[in-house]
Amino acid sequence: MGGFEIRSATPADARFMGDMLVEAANWSVSRARPRVAILDDPKVSRYIAGWPRPGDFGSVALDSHSIPIGACWARLFPPNAPGSGFVAVGVPELTLGVNPQWRAQGVGRALLKAVTRQALAAGHSRLSLSVERANFAQRLYVSEGYVTIESREASDTMVATIR
Ligand SMILES: CC(C)(COP(=O)(O)OP(=O)(O)OC[C@H]1O[C@@H](n2cnc3c(N)ncnc32)[C@H](O)[C@@H]1OP(=O)(O)O)[C@@H](O)C(=O)NCCC(=O)NCCS
Repeated sequence: MGGFEIRSATPADARFMGDMLVEAANWSVSRARPRVAILDDPKVSRYIAGWPRPGDFGSVALDSHSIPIGACWARLFPPNAPGSGFVAVGVPELTLGVNPQWRAQGVGRALLKAVTRQALAAGHSRLSLSVERANFAQRLYVSEGYVTIESREASDTMVATIR
């Protein structure tokens, strides 16, 4: 589909990042829910609500017309209101999504690497995420250095030590 570029996410990207959060929640087409139902679900909307909050950072991929095609970002959660991939105070948790027509072309991996660089620049040494084991995205995470540190019924919490 041609080339893409990556830039830091801004406050104006909130709507598109919401779209990518919906893509992440709807990774399994057989269980897909409408956008409004997903973003009304606090377990999902907590990843984007109020973007950007202090400590948030992320990247957006753009096509050759500067149209957003994917996003990855990280947010810190407190221990009394943890995200699904919470591992410790101060370890940001990732969200990643790519537009369906742009998948399997390196955008997801490039976004993951971009956010890792942002995390390092912000002084972090680890990143975490939660992924369902049936989602091939887990293989991408393994290949980028993520290891499973906790398994629940259908999903794993994974952590990468970044450098
Ligand atoms: C998961 C996702 C972000 C990956 O982004 P992407 O741009 O498609 O991934 P990339 O092209 O960078 O590919 C990453 C790896 O996954 C592999 N891959 C890509 N599509 C695949 C598919 N349909 N099945 C199996 N493996 C696949 C690629 O082969 C690649 O590995 P390689 O570099 O060794 O070839 C994207 O597919 C997506 O948005 N999925 C829906 C949302 C989602 O599941 N988000 C994650 C929730 S935890």
